[in-house]
Amino acid sequence: MKILVITGSPRKNGNSNTLADNFIKGAKEAGHIVERFDAAFKNVHPCVACNKCGMNGECVFKDDFEFVKNNIINSDAVVFTTPMYYFGISSQIKTVIDRFYAINGKIHVPKKAILIVTYADHSMKDAHPIISHYETLLEYLGWSDSGKIIVPDVWKEGDINNTQYPEQAYKLGKNI
Ligand SMILES: Cc1cc2nc3c(=O)[nH]c(=O)nc-3n(C[C@H](O)[C@H](O)[C@H](O)COP(=O)(O)O)c2cc1C
Repeated sequence: MKILVITGSPRKNGNSNTLADNFIKGAKEAGHIVERFDAAFKNVHPCVACNKCGMNGECVFKDDFEFVKNNIINSDAVVFTTPMYYFGISSQIKTVIDRFYAINGKIHVPKKAILIVTYADHSMKDAHPIISHYETLLEYLGWSDSGKIIVPDVWKEGDINNTQYPEQAYKLGKNI
């Protein structure tokens, strides 16, 4: 399979990026082709709703989103990894998702998807808005969920290293 991993954390060695690393390791070992887009380190202009693309055409911005465009259309699976910011996904990854607008007509084809979220609080309930957003997005696009890794109780960079989640992410990559 061809897999596109989109990460949303500005912490290079942060918790969600560690899970992305482990997922990718497993997926590559299983023989998949994996591309990675670290949204927080790229130049992606927010959608300005000019509608010049008509939801299926040229975007007025020529920036790093070109990489996503070139890799998502033919991908079999898309992985979203993000820290929780105020009970939502990070603005860095949301900016990339909003730019799907210009390729909306090309990505309504069946794909697998995976969600990986890290956050500091203890309650699983806090993750409900992100899970609901993800599931609604998948339903709209006609994609199917192939797994979620929802990780509470990690705050500082490196907290994830003391948990079983890196191994879980590795196995998810290996078995997707
Ligand atoms: C701007 C900002 C907002 C945050 N909002 C929340 C939140 O709503 N709930 C929570 O439990 N943690 C929140 N956190 C903590 C992060 O989700 C937590 O540190 C997470 O492990 C970061 O993941 P990362 O290391 O992959 O960046 C917030 C952190 C920042 C910087």
